[in-house]
Amino acid sequence: MAEQRTSIHGQWTNRTVFILAATGSAVGLGNIWKFPYIAGENGGGTFVLIYLLCIGLIGLPIMIAEIMLGRRGKQSPINTMKALARDEHRNPGWVWLGWMGVLAGFLILSYYSVIAGWAMSYIFRTAGGIFQGVTADGVNSIFTDLVSDPERLLAWHTIFMVMTMAVVARGVKNGIEKAVTYLMPLLFGLLIIIVIYAMTTGHFMEGIDFLFSPGEITGKAILIAMGHAFFTLSLGMGAIMVYGSYLSDEHSIVQASIMIALADTVVALLAGMAIFPIVFANGLEPGAGPGLIFQTLPIAFGHMQGGTLVGVVFFTLLVFAAWTSAISLIEPAVAYLVENLGYSRIYAAVTIGMLTWFVGLGTVFSFNVWKDKTLSIPYLFDNFTFFDTLDYLTANIMLPLGGLFIALFAAWVMRKESTREELATDPLMYNIWRFLVQFVTPLAVIVVFLKAVGAI
Ligand code: PFF
Repeated sequence: MAEQRTSIHGQWTNRTVFILAATGSAVGLGNIWKFPYIAGENGGGTFVLIYLLCIGLIGLPIMIAEIMLGRRGKQSPINTMKALARDEHRNPGWVWLGWMGVLAGFLILSYYSVIAGWAMSYIFRTAGGIFQGVTADGVNSIFTDLVSDPERLLAWHTIFMVMTMAVVARGVKNGIEKAVTYLMPLLFGLLIIIVIYAMTTGHFMEGIDFLFSPGEITGKAILIAMGHAFFTLSLGMGAIMVYGSYLSDEHSIVQASIMIALADTVVALLAGMAIFPIVFANGLEPGAGPGLIFQTLPIAFGHMQGGTLVGVVFFTLLVFAAWTSAISLIEPAVAYLVENLGYSRIYAAVTIGMLTWFVGLGTVFSFNVWKDKTLSIPYLFDNFTFFDTLDYLTANIMLPLGGLFIALFAAWVMRKESTREELATDPLMYNIWRFLVQFVTPLAVIVVFLKAVGAI
């Protein structure tokens, strides 16, 4: 039996709030901005299928494990790993897993904030009516104008980081709970409206075909699909662990995890179904890269009835979705500073936020002045900008590696009685979960890693 702990940071009011907050963390730019463009770059159907398999066989079991570790440790991921290793009389070195998570969250937020800034600037562009009756070339040049201007990107990045620090500083309950309760359902509704518009383009089935018909796939694309399963579910870096640490003991982790993973997946698929018909109807390139949603959705807004309003509300919600994810990206680091250095939440949030802001400058410049400064790493990637490199290393390497070790810790390091007690689920469910984290998940991650570097 673990010692009875309580979180010094407070607790979620109830289970629904936890589910909403974790869904708020999971649903973000990853679903609406990233999923469509990487599906487009990697050929659609097979990529999507592998992504779905990764969600079910790797993501969901790891989510259950990660929330479980958090709730048992009831501290920041660094201290949770230290405490759990001690409870189980294991090597204290497991603490590095917490540190890697903190680093990954910090690096992800540094570029996440810049992209969220694009979405913010699109609220105002849409409101100004510049997309009325716009052509594909028109949206393209509006997007290029934005990203080639470092000052504008920097201004939006700064505003987004200030917003993130403000909520994190206020604490978990007052900030995050309020925002997610209303905004998530609204985002869902708006996505459905855009999917309905996509059905009127006459290219809906072409979009669906692209998303779901199998085709060729490479080892690298499989790694990207797996990395994205981690990214989109906020796994492998302690974000979901720290949220789990604020969850009270009587709630079912398994059920909650299933709901979070389902909601996240539905939002990503809806985004794909909204975007690809518009891509094909306008002769756009599905592999256009990170600008994809910014070059497709405005066409829909420029041509549908009431499009300006729908567009403004959509980009506003996208910013909110990004905001509720951004908060969870620095919560592990902030919780650690509060626990170990006695910082106030405000001071901790500002310290981490400023550091993140600074690293974000690299991403701001990746789209303009540093566009041609690229890096290649043999077997991994060629000619990547600073942004591409950060994105690749965090999503495709650090998160899966973190997830792999979370699975190994939950399955092989913790005693069976500990995990059974903490999950308190029915025996069949427990055994399925344990089998997955013991064998399937670790093997799958290792095989995908080996395949991506061409070793198998
Ligand atoms: N899941 C978020 C998204 O899909 O946008 C991004 C994210 C949040 C990744 C928190 C990792 C994390 F810990």
